[in-house]
Amino acid sequence: MASRPYKDFTVNDDFYRIRRLPPYVFAEVNAMKAAARAAGEDIVDLGMGNPDGAPAQHVIDKLCEVARDPNAHGYSASKGIKGLRKAQAGYYQRRFGVDLDPESEVVVTLGSKEGLANLAQAITAPGDVVLAPNPSYPIHTFGFIIAGATIRSVPTTPNDAYWESLDRAMAFTVPRPSILIVNYPSNPTAETVDLAFYERLVAWAKENKVWILSDLAYSELYYDDNPTVSILQVPGAKDVAVEFTSMSKTFSMAGWRVGFAVGNPRLIAALKRVKSYLDYGAFTPIQAAACAALNGPQDIVEKNRQLYRKRRDVLVESFARAGWDIPSPKASMFAWAPLPPALKHMGSLEFTKQLLIHAEVAVAPGVGYGEDGEGYVRIAMVENEQRLRQAARNVKRYLQSMGVNASAA
Ligand SMILES: Cc1ncc(COP(=O)(O)O)c(C=O)c1O
Repeated sequence: MASRPYKDFTVNDDFYRIRRLPPYVFAEVNAMKAAARAAGEDIVDLGMGNPDGAPAQHVIDKLCEVARDPNAHGYSASKGIKGLRKAQAGYYQRRFGVDLDPESEVVVTLGSKEGLANLAQAITAPGDVVLAPNPSYPIHTFGFIIAGATIRSVPTTPNDAYWESLDRAMAFTVPRPSILIVNYPSNPTAETVDLAFYERLVAWAKENKVWILSDLAYSELYYDDNPTVSILQVPGAKDVAVEFTSMSKTFSMAGWRVGFAVGNPRLIAALKRVKSYLDYGAFTPIQAAACAALNGPQDIVEKNRQLYRKRRDVLVESFARAGWDIPSPKASMFAWAPLPPALKHMGSLEFTKQLLIHAEVAVAPGVGYGEDGEGYVRIAMVENEQRLRQAARNVKRYLQSMGVNASAA
């Protein structure tokens, strides 16, 4: 047998970028979930934000139709086919009254996550300071950490402390921060902002010479008749901002990997340049079907909104009856739930494990979104109403076993 001189040599920890990527906090919970399922347990999975629905039939039909064309199988365009960039410009005009040039102000991405990560590569030098919300969706920090940046956290909650922390960051950080990430409706906290917030933010960014990257992945998942706003609605926002949107949640197309970045032409050009070296764009039939989704009947958008609104109401009501008070989210597909006060001492990771073991309900520990997420878990509304009620019954049983009852909560 051949000798294996490097048998015991593990290199992973020595890679510069891998050293900067700690193991995923969710990995441990995911492994437990997989083991429980393999053992035959019926886990209600409210952990990952993976939509459980399917796209509209006409979108699937378009995918199949174009896939049957023998000319549709070559490399596509890394910046996205023209029709899809135009469709996205049409969406911004229709929905937000914002004009975009499909050539210079729109790029199609392989999901907004890819777009964020590659824009980070494009515009960040090692040592640059990036202001990112804490807690946040992991790519908002790790996209930049991979690119060599240093993260300075700012709060996610858009209140007075938020503005103070922005000003403190500019006054005391060396080098001065050059990029600010915003994400409203927020993943994980579901917090939202209004146009006045963005007006102030754009003015602040111009004064401080900071680029703003806005993640609007939940643009259409708003409830209570209070439509989500875009930062690009602020006059002059394009001077300093780009915004990411996604087909994943709006059209139930998460696995298709289609998203967009739109706005500032310099930032869009930088992202296009990096992408031109890295990818050839999404499969053309997928892009054609994404056009059909954006340009065609929009019933599914309203249907999804109603679906998540009903789930939200079921979740909040049934969990309250179980002894766990959860604030009703105004937007997104998540509830950001403080740990029941009597169990707060456990911390979010241990509480998540306990819920999985004793209630057969999977949620995401808040600490996985940053240190300020401690004390919370994120509950994704990705199972149907009946399953949410089942989860609430299981949670009630578990809470009672821990001495928490509904009236005390
Ligand atoms: C805030 C936020 N941004 C981006 C994404 C990634 O979306 P996409 O599927 O477009 O990559 C998600 C997915 O959960 C998200 O929650």
